[in-house]
Amino acid sequence: MTEAQGLLQELQQIQNTALETLKAVQDETGLQAWRSANLGRNAPVMRIFSRLGEVPKEERPLVGQQANQVKQAIETAYNEYETRLHEAALQNSLARDRIDVTLPGRQPYHGRLHPSTQTLRRIYHIFAEMGFQIYLSSDVETDEYNFELLNMPAHHPARDMWDTFHTTREGVLLRTHTSPGQIRVMREYAPDPIRVILPGMCYRYEQISARSEIQFNQVEVLAVGRGITFSEFKGTLIDFARRMYGENVRTRLRPSYFPFTEPSAEMDIECFVCGGKGCNICKGSGWLEIMGCGMVHPVVLQNGGYDPAEFTGFAAGMGPERITILRHRIEDIRHFWANDIRFLEQF
Ligand code: DAH
Repeated sequence: MTEAQGLLQELQQIQNTALETLKAVQDETGLQAWRSANLGRNAPVMRIFSRLGEVPKEERPLVGQQANQVKQAIETAYNEYETRLHEAALQNSLARDRIDVTLPGRQPYHGRLHPSTQTLRRIYHIFAEMGFQIYLSSDVETDEYNFELLNMPAHHPARDMWDTFHTTREGVLLRTHTSPGQIRVMREYAPDPIRVILPGMCYRYEQISARSEIQFNQVEVLAVGRGITFSEFKGTLIDFARRMYGENVRTRLRPSYFPFTEPSAEMDIECFVCGGKGCNICKGSGWLEIMGCGMVHPVVLQNGGYDPAEFTGFAAGMGPERITILRHRIEDIRHFWANDIRFLEQF
């Protein structure tokens, strides 16, 4: 065998071995080790090139060509194998991170209106249909507006009905009810007729318990005009109760006392829990109180800038939290401002 034949045979052997050992390669690390063994500077095929000098000149091109072909075959095998490894890795990661497109999407969390806001909006809506506008007045009031102009001079015993938060400024307080807004609207619009509701937060210096809070909403109702009668007052409130609690709700007006109305009353609706039979919600009476009301007191009309000889009017005050409590049988008023999502998301 000539030198050349020997080298050609050796080259064939090198190629076979290289391709054979490649089959055992498992991963990228194995592949790189295989590459440096078979294509690196000291790889068998590389050593053939340095031995070309052993071959007679005429046969050198043949052997050289063959050596190049073997080197290329090994390189091709390497490239193919590498591509295959990458594809397998990709398939693996797709399988691992697979997205199940048939899964239903996750519901984003929906905020919702506070139960008091929902009740307030129903009240606004009903009164808007009856031609009432909304008038907003300030949470911070003066003693004059909160009491005095509402027919409660200093030391009037009726002031005890409202436990008051006073501020460090003499005569400045947090309103204990929305009634002072009556004077503010009247003073703004006198002598025009008025039909407004005045919603807003009120504050009372109470011991916080399941039944009483230091803050709560009220909606004040006020109508002032020439010749407004007691039957119009009654009719409007009964109509409101029907729209709020249903066409067939039974109502009654009970005589009561407020310094800013004469006569004064409280409006009850038939208990919607027991239907009037008597239960623990209505405390056995069959009736639920929903508002204080009455014909605006002449002194209050006068303080608002209306001549009581010419003008009359009616007023009412109701609590949206109380309405919501009755409606949903909420057992603790503290839920309203505790901001506990488990409570709020039930509405
Ligand atoms: N301001 C009263 C309160 O907070 C509620 C009220 C009673 C308002 C009678 C009125 C009314 O307008 O006429 O207890």
